[in-house]
Amino acid sequence: MPFAIAIATCAELPDLDEDERQLLDALAALGAKGVPACWDDPSIDWSTFEAVILRATWDYSRRIQEFIAWTRRVASVSVLLNPADIVEWNTDKRYLTDLAAAGVPIVPTVFIEVPHSSSDPVTWEPPAGFAEFVVKPVVSAGSRDTMRYSPATSGDAPDLHVRRLLAAGEAVMVQPYLEAVDTIGETALVFIGGEFSHAVCKGQMLRLDTEGEKVAGLYVVEEITPRAASPAERAVADAALAAIPGGFDRVLYARVDVIPDASGAPVVLELELTEPSLFFQHDHTAAPRLAAAILARL
Ligand SMILES: Nc1ncnc2c1ncn2[C@@H]1O[C@H](COP(=O)(O)OP(=O)(O)O)[C@@H](O)[C@H]1O
Ligand SMILES: [Mg+2]
Repeated sequence: MPFAIAIATCAELPDLDEDERQLLDALAALGAKGVPACWDDPSIDWSTFEAVILRATWDYSRRIQEFIAWTRRVASVSVLLNPADIVEWNTDKRYLTDLAAAGVPIVPTVFIEVPHSSSDPVTWEPPAGFAEFVVKPVVSAGSRDTMRYSPATSGDAPDLHVRRLLAAGEAVMVQPYLEAVDTIGETALVFIGGEFSHAVCKGQMLRLDTEGEKVAGLYVVEEITPRAASPAERAVADAALAAIPGGFDRVLYARVDVIPDASGAPVVLELELTEPSLFFQHDHTAAPRLAAAILARL
């Protein structure tokens, strides 16, 4: 029997996406069988897989407790990659505080916690000194509920947005809108099996006061182009990876998204250790390297 490796996906993408299908081919080339498996399908016996690889589970952000409980269950009967405790840490963007404490440059972020009681006052201010800012939930994916606002023109929409998320029990984060994303873009640095793999550029995604349209209700479309990561971007990414609880060698894959700040220095927008798109189409050696890295861990 070949090794059976579950490639965890969501109900909207039962056959995975183009990238993850490359992973199935790469596993097959090494004599292993990749099996697309919806994370919330109750009929699946996860113990029948040698490993379960999180890849396209993009609908978890509104069901985070259920998702975390599922990762723990899977990890108790199979090898879950990335590990469940890292997923729990990484699905809540309050991890940015840990990165900052470790000296990693991050997008300046203010967190607004859910009040204990609905009568508790909620006060917050847009970041001072910036033309625009972003409001998003601390647990999100695919730009869900992520909006770009201007204090000059957005009226009470940002405050209503913050209060709507808090009322739904979601803590909120507010960041300056880093304008370099409009010109230089966001650099996504992909790491596989402990090594830097490749980088891509993501074009800007947020239009002022307008929520982006989602594909299959899952994610705002990203405009991806090839990019060589600069030495400064590589250094910031390495610093972020060094802050992973328990060490970088515990993760199979990682992606670090950086944007230049007002001074041009790259800062971390996101350290993605849960289900990052790895942009295999921009480096056709990447899926085979991931397949080999999976098998090396078994
Ligand atoms: N502070 C920011 N400045 C500029 N663009 C931002 C900012 N925050 C988010 N964005 C845009 O929104 C997208 C989604 O936000 P992100 O923080 O990456 O969350 P997620 O990808 O988990 O939904 C980013 O790729 C970027 O285009
Ligand atoms: Mg992102």
